Amino acid sequence: EKGTYPHFMLKEIDEQPIVMRKIIKEYQDEHNELKLDANIRQAMKAADRIYIIAAGTSYHAGLVGKEFMEKLAKIPVEVHVASEFSYNMPLLSERPLFVFISQSGETADSRSVLVKIKEMGHPALTITNVPGSTLSREADYTLHLYAGPEIAVASTKAYTAQIAVLAILAVDTAKVKGLELDFDPMQELGIVANAMDVLTGQKEELEQLTRDYLATTRNAFFIGRSADYNVALEGALKLKEISYIQAEGFAGGELKHGTIALIEEGTPVIALATQANVNYSIRGNVQEVVARGANAMIISMKGLEQDDDAFVLPPVHELLTPLVSVVPLQLLAYYAALHRGCDVDKPRNLAKSVTVE
Ligand code: M6R
Repeated sequence: EKGTYPHFMLKEIDEQPIVMRKIIKEYQDEHNELKLDANIRQAMKAADRIYIIAAGTSYHAGLVGKEFMEKLAKIPVEVHVASEFSYNMPLLSERPLFVFISQSGETADSRSVLVKIKEMGHPALTITNVPGSTLSREADYTLHLYAGPEIAVASTKAYTAQIAVLAILAVDTAKVKGLELDFDPMQELGIVANAMDVLTGQKEELEQLTRDYLATTRNAFFIGRSADYNVALEGALKLKEISYIQAEGFAGGELKHGTIALIEEGTPVIALATQANVNYSIRGNVQEVVARGANAMIISMKGLEQDDDAFVLPPVHELLTPLVSVVPLQLLAYYAALHRGCDVDKPRNLAKSVTVE
């Protein structure tokens, strides 16, 4: 039930801090140690390469998960769009582990890959919000997202839950492999939950930014580098899916290789700046588009902010910034859709779970 909320999407955005705390609780034992199935640990340890398979927003969460897995657990990861992998399979490593990320657990494109790789005899882990779902039943192992039912077609709390669970899985794997880590995922996710509380309290500010940047536009660009690039892709998908504004996510440095040709007087460019090592260069990309007339909005993180930034995020661990930077993008998409009179929870042409290939 939506309760007092006008839309499920808004309710689900607001639930994100609660979901973070639920995940912290569910993946911890009574001694505050990470709690994961021994078989999953074994499978993660045995794998020489991980193949993440997903679609849409879950694919975007997979891109963030790749960074965790490679930086923390030191396992190479490939992230694939399910519908592509299915018919154009890459060369596989000797001991692959397939990780399916799916809110619904019913996405046909992902299932088609699962069927194929099971026939080949490879192990599979499904990360899903619906433990009894097809992808969960047909895989060898399941990790639960604990996000609660997600009703709005636009995925919000499932995305952040997927990223949180992937962070826990990466740290757990690092520990199982005996790697030294200077990163306590539960403590850091607790900081994220508090930051999300702050962000969901800033709706008026974000509604105003939507008016300033997205009120009448036909198109919009999201740019970022490194971790911010992954979130830029998700921000663009959210916006196009529910407000029907043509939106694209780009790597900041790639703009000048073609896309910058599209920038005109007033084109909105939303830039994320949460990563210290690329803060200077993403701001350079913003100057390049502003020089061509763009209406640029910088969303930065406390500690990296500059005077004219439109919105400053509360600070969280550098690896976990996608969990907070996505929240204002979800809200910008929500208000853009609302102001344009779109059906926020049930956008045209879309279904909540895509059960056809
Ligand atoms: O249930 P799944 O996570 O497998 O769904 C995958 C995509 O269909 C889904 O994320 C879709 O892109 C959302 N509508 C995006 O908000």
